[in-house]
Amino acid sequence: MDLDFAREGVFVGGRWRGAASGETLPIENPSNGETVGSLAAGGADDVDAAVDAARGALSSEWGALSAAERGRLLAQIGRAVLAQADRLAELEALDVGKPLKQARADVVALARYLEFYGGAADKLHGESIPYLPGYTVFTLREPHGVTGHIIPWNYPMQIIGRSVVAALAVGNAAVLKPAEQASLTALAFARIAAEAGLPAGALNVVPGTGAAAGAALAGHPGIDHISFTGSSGVGATIQAAAARNAVPVTLELGGKSPQVVFDDADLDKALPFLVSAGIQNAGQTCSAGSRILVQRGVYDQVAARLAERFAALRSGPARADLDLGPIISARQKAMIEGFVEVARRELTLIGEGQVVADAPSGGHYLPAMVFGDVAPDHRLAQEEIFGPVQVVIPFDTEEDAVRIANGTPYGLVAGVWTRDADRLFRMARKLRAGQVFLNNYGAAGGVELPFGGVGRSGHGREKGFEALYGFTVLKTVAAHHG
Ligand code: NAI
Ligand code: MG
Repeated sequence: MDLDFAREGVFVGGRWRGAASGETLPIENPSNGETVGSLAAGGADDVDAAVDAARGALSSEWGALSAAERGRLLAQIGRAVLAQADRLAELEALDVGKPLKQARADVVALARYLEFYGGAADKLHGESIPYLPGYTVFTLREPHGVTGHIIPWNYPMQIIGRSVVAALAVGNAAVLKPAEQASLTALAFARIAAEAGLPAGALNVVPGTGAAAGAALAGHPGIDHISFTGSSGVGATIQAAAARNAVPVTLELGGKSPQVVFDDADLDKALPFLVSAGIQNAGQTCSAGSRILVQRGVYDQVAARLAERFAALRSGPARADLDLGPIISARQKAMIEGFVEVARRELTLIGEGQVVADAPSGGHYLPAMVFGDVAPDHRLAQEEIFGPVQVVIPFDTEEDAVRIANGTPYGLVAGVWTRDADRLFRMARKLRAGQVFLNNYGAAGGVELPFGGVGRSGHGREKGFEALYGFTVLKTVAAHHG
């Protein structure tokens, strides 16, 4: 595998080149901490060129395609992605530290986004509006133009699918800034898409740091829409930068999503989700179900069963394909350890997994952990940890459950476990979240299901058909013909 992307790491107008500044960034393998190559570190000049190339694509081959042709092309790219699934999964496992099985699931999801949005491309249309006599009025759904996409390191391929692919489906030209910790699959995807026939300039990729490439893209006067997934703090900075140019923004930020377990829940069904929704991708998941609210009547039983399951969880290198891979970086691991230190001092550890003995010492490993009897306002029950640390919060009544579940600044996802059908629907109405799952969590991924937050979790929706509205603007045409 050739991981030297210093001279061929910026993709602009269908051509590969190095960063204008010549600067590079190391590529780290989080499973062993080794540097395995180098990336081009793009900056403002590269972003300028990418935005120009995207603008140019709108008035050349890409912009001339019909909706059906765009859709067919995306579906074709989806098949090309699947044909290279093994290579893409290996690349992601190396770069992000994902266990191979999880990396492969991300490839399949990217292919599914290409299939879904490929199929949807020619099915988005406007309406005609009854108006005054002598008028015909209709609406058109048009692309914004040039869309910017700043994505994080935790699910690069899935986020390319739900963000970049949706934007392309409706005819935008995109500039993608992947995360500095995980840019390899973004570069590989651009190569696959170009080989499958995506016209030059439709997709441009500028890797680099957030401070250089990211900030240049967010504040660029030549972009027409920006989509950001990442931390709440950076999200606010991006919105402020975009505001200076009155550019609309979609923000997919973090969460502290509750999974609410009532006394009458089917615990055999719930238990695997209570664990997996917290430790998937080593807990580095915006939609992690990271607060487990348990009604008193089953609290001891749930705690005992969680303890047993957590004890069986193993963390180790991506290639070993265990329950958890490493944390993305030493910095993120240190942030999580800060939370764990507080938790060990102030809370009750009820279950802990293990890091396998032969895990390389340079890797950023943490065992999965679950802490019990946590007060709803404790720091660990309020802040996004972004690591494999679950907290269990006891509650008494349905009203308590709603108050605790809604009692953080976030509102991304919520899960409810009960056999009482009336209660399920009441809870679905009362929970403050962009997605609510009843007797499941995550709905097996759900490319088709609109996703996004309220409150500090962000705004705008990606995934599903709904995303296509966000990546278009509505134009009203009113004709007077007498
Ligand atoms: P981050 O928000 O700094 O990074 C996300 C993306 O934004 C990256 O591509 C980065 O290069 C870019 N970026 C950073 N600063 C920027 C700026 N000033 N202007 C434009 N772009 C910028 O997240 P980071 O530092 O990797 O992780 C820190 C915390 O953020 C995590 O512990 C977690 O709590 C949260 N996070 C949430 C994610 C989610 O899926 N909601 C994903 C990643 C992180
Ligand atoms: Mg990496």
